[in-house]
Amino acid sequence: MFIRELGFDLGTSVMHISEKEKGIILDESEIIALDKAKGNIVAVGEEAYDMLEKTPPHIIINSPVKYGVIADFENMKKLLKEQLKRLKMGNKASNNTAIVSVPNDVSEVERKAIYDLFVHSGFRSKRVFLVEKPVAAAIGAEVDVLEPYGNMIVDIGGGTTEISVISLGGIVISKLLKIGGNKFDEDIKSYIKRKYNIYIGKKTSEKIKKEIGFAYIKDEDDIVDINVVGRDVVTGLPKKISVTNEDVYNAIKEDINIIIDAIKYILEKTPPELSSDILETGVYLTGGSSSLNNLDLLIMNETSLRVNQVKNPKECVVNGIDIILRDMNKYEDILLSSKQESKLK
Ligand SMILES: Nc1ncnc2c1ncn2[C@@H]1O[C@H](COP(=O)(O)OP(=O)(O)OP(=O)(O)O)[C@@H](O)[C@H]1O
Ligand SMILES: [Mg+2]
Repeated sequence: MFIRELGFDLGTSVMHISEKEKGIILDESEIIALDKAKGNIVAVGEEAYDMLEKTPPHIIINSPVKYGVIADFENMKKLLKEQLKRLKMGNKASNNTAIVSVPNDVSEVERKAIYDLFVHSGFRSKRVFLVEKPVAAAIGAEVDVLEPYGNMIVDIGGGTTEISVISLGGIVISKLLKIGGNKFDEDIKSYIKRKYNIYIGKKTSEKIKKEIGFAYIKDEDDIVDINVVGRDVVTGLPKKISVTNEDVYNAIKEDINIIIDAIKYILEKTPPELSSDILETGVYLTGGSSSLNNLDLLIMNETSLRVNQVKNPKECVVNGIDIILRDMNKYEDILLSSKQESKLK
């Protein structure tokens, strides 16, 4: 019987699973499609994402994670169980290990709920450890988190933006905003409706963002555009329009500014010994939405901080968990138990 050691980042938009020695084994949308009457699974992951806004009334689409927190444990259990089954990980061994990333300040009740989720997910894991997402993201960004040194991590995901200052393996100060890629998609959708009188869906809006998303436009940047099809609000008929990177910038700039202001706020609140470290080393941008063009430049202009290039920003949290899995002794102190004790030791 195999013993599995897996890492889980159950994000608002993406479910990442990694396996010790193998790396990432699942990178799919955190979505499940269910039959409304019977509750049976119709599709999970990318297959369910493709069904978004295309389903007949008897199929419901559910995203069990809202703003980074598991909001619907029943559907999360179904989704996780199905993905593990597909990965052939639903084995009967009971001494599997799971490390799961959780939001900062997770409550006792939530810890217990996550423990139950894994015990009942078919993975049969009795060893369920938790790690705070910003700490895992920092480790995945190759930051030496255990040092007495201040590092700032800005994780911009699908549902949230979390700005954290980390030192000695712990979070010294942080701020969580309910702004992320989903909000940007909404912003783009409403902007296009306002400007062009065209209604587009979530998937089109996300595609526009990924292809020509700009957090800031420099004078020398070219204006680029893409063609998209939406529904004319007046005639109700499909219509093709051309959307520019300037449109995307205008649509999301208010939310981007809220993120910039929050970074400044955290810098102001950071104890001076740590902020001088941050000034020296710069900030680390992680999460899928940090890939917006020129976001690094905007942060540099607005805060005078350097922005470090991070490899695979989207995968930082799960990569960080994988690094922990490979050296549990080293990272023992930053792991939280999913049961009673607050620390492992
Ligand atoms: N190239 C890109 N440009 C802009 N946004 C992108 C790009 N690629 C992915 N995204 C966005 O990144 C988001 C997903 O990022 P990520 O996987 O870090 O989120 P998550 O971990 O599921 O969410 P959270 O951490 O908020 O719970 C989605 O909104 C997606 O549209
Ligand atoms: Mg995330």
